Order: sequence, then structure tokens, then C-alpha cells
Amino acid sequence: MRIFSGIQPTGVKHLGNYIGAIVPYIEGQERGEGIYCIVDLHATTVAYEPAALRTGSYDLAALLLAAGLDPARCILFRQSDVHEHSVLQWLLMGVSSYGELLRMTQFKDKSDKQKDFVSAGLFSYPVLMAADILAYKTDEVPVGDDQRQHVELTRNIAERFNSRFGETLVVPAGVYRTVGARIMDLQDPTSKMSTTGANPQGAIYFSDEPSAILKKFKSAVTDSGREVVRGPDKPGINNLLDILAVVRGVSVEEVEREFEGSMYGQFKQTVGEAVVDYIAPVQARYKELRADEAQLEAILAAGADKARQIAAQTVAEVQAKMGVGPVRSAS
Ligand code: AMP
Ligand code: TRP
Repeated sequence: MRIFSGIQPTGVKHLGNYIGAIVPYIEGQERGEGIYCIVDLHATTVAYEPAALRTGSYDLAALLLAAGLDPARCILFRQSDVHEHSVLQWLLMGVSSYGELLRMTQFKDKSDKQKDFVSAGLFSYPVLMAADILAYKTDEVPVGDDQRQHVELTRNIAERFNSRFGETLVVPAGVYRTVGARIMDLQDPTSKMSTTGANPQGAIYFSDEPSAILKKFKSAVTDSGREVVRGPDKPGINNLLDILAVVRGVSVEEVEREFEGSMYGQFKQTVGEAVVDYIAPVQARYKELRADEAQLEAILAAGADKARQIAAQTVAEVQAKMGVGPVRSAS
């Protein structure tokens, strides 16, 4: 069972990234062969600062290791170190449809936000993501809910390649958490928690001090009701229930039972404290690991060496099927 996922080294990571993506990575390394990629090439598709991109890759590597990824048990690497991803992206462009890419909602959202310049990279971004996944003959892709459409596209690309050139690529399955795949903004619980939300009070960042975290939960938007139970018109409470359930590793029903008869204020206080306790050890390990950049670079380089061996094999097969390059003897 091979598990692959990618995460962008941009912005400060928040609780949504952690619960929606990073925690499933840790679970993945227990269940199968986990391969995790810091996708710095994807980050070049919108305006960015080169120096911040480089340090962002180290920030993210340190966070992933602090969260529990173990380089002895999984492969952790930086996308740009394995050139096979870019080669495979180009090879897959010929089986990717223009119309399909135009329909990607992330492209529509992100291109609307770029005022002066929409890069061709932003448009072909999902094909690079497909290359990331398909290069490793991946079985499962754990991602947050917002990546569903990209995973579906990847499956279409793999199927199209196989039917045109013969069985070569593994058609991967997206894996989404049932609770926590979409952590919402604390100030606007109808939109997802993100680095670019309207109000920084709405997101819990890994760089936040405990006092700031408690304050953000205290001021989390709820509703005019009183009961701590799930409801269709209670997005704020639903979100807090999800967060506490995930952080404690229990079901939402269990949390509801515990808070029967409690006031919203008390509930919010408990969620805040639970989140502080949950991320404090990760924050402490992060500080230690982040201080040694040479060590982080060494871990990423070793990961890239392992990743390259797998990806190069797939690229060779794909090229052979497509008639690209010289005749190679089968290995
Ligand atoms: P990004 O930082 O946008 O590259 O996202 C990294 C990972 O976090 C992806 O797998 C996203 O699907 C996931 N993610 C981002 N925001 C959230 C959220 N609010 N709730 C759950 N997962 C999220
Ligand atoms: N597009 C993903 C995101 O924004 C990041 C990503 C790139 C990815 N390549 C991937 C995720 C491969 C899973 C598999 O979150």
C-alpha cells in the first residue's frame, strides 16, 4: 500500500492543515509506505518571494517532523529535488484536457485573485499534482476536502493514459477524513480556515502563543442557540465539535454528551485549552528541529534520493509507452 501526499511550503500552517492533512500523513506512515512531498514548484505559480519559498520549505519540513513523520519509516522530500516530477508533468500534458483544467474550481478562485497576471503554471498546476501522485504508482492520497477535484482529475489522467498507451499507471484513490476534512474559520464558520482568510483571528496558526489561541477560541463565532449539539444552522458549533472530537480522538456524539447543559462560553474555553495542549509539544519540537537547517537539508536530500529511484522508473516506463526517447531494453 503506497500513500502519497503533497503540501505547499507557503504561509504559516494552521490547525486546518494539521488536522486535515498532516495528522493523516502520520497515520499513513503506520499503515503503508508513506511518501510526502514539500511541493515548492507548485508555490511558484502565484506571486511569491524567492527567499521566503526557500525558508518555507525548511519551516514545513521541521513542522512535519515535529508532528511525527519519521524519515526512517517514510520518505520526506522536496519536489524540486526530483526533476522527474517536471518531466512527467510534461508527458501527461498530452493526455490532460484543456476544458477539464478550465473547470478546476481552485484555478477559478486563485486566478480571480491574481489581479495583474495569471500564470500558465497556475492553469497547469493540477497536471503537476497528477505527476507527483502518478510517479509513485500511488494507491491512496490523503488530502483535505478542497483537493477532491484535483484527485479526480488525476484519476482521469491515469485512466486516459492507460487506455491510450496500455496499462502503466496506478489509478489512485483520494482519502478524506470523515471528521475534520474541512476545519472552518473561527470568525466566519461558513468558509474554511485558511492563511488568507479575511480575519487573522479566524485561524489558529502554529506560530500562535497559547494565550492567543485561547483568545481566538473565546471569541469564536457561534449562534444564538444554547445547546452544544450539531445542527444544520450551527456552523460555528459544528466546527468546534469537530475540532474537539479530533483533538481528543473521540466521536462528536461523545463530545455532545459531555457538554449537555453546558454554556457556549464554557465549551469554547475547553476547546481552546484542548487545542493548546494538543499543539504545544509539536511547537516545542518544531523549535528544536528548525534551528538545525543543515540537518533538515540532509533529511530532505536523503528523501529525494529514495524518491528519485521510484519516480525515474515510472518516467522510463511512460516514455517507453509514449515512444519518447531512444529504445531501452526492459529492466
Ligand atoms: P495548503 O496549505 O493549501 O497546501 O493545504 C495543505 C493541506 O491541508 C491540503 O491537503 C488541504 O486540503 C488541507 N487543508 C487546507 N485547509 C484546510 C482546512 N481548513 N481544513 C482541513 N484541511 C485543510
Ligand atoms: N494541491 C495540493 C494543495 O494545494 C498540494 C499538492 C501538490 C498535493 N501535489 C500533491 C496533494 C499531490 C496531494 C498529492 O493542498
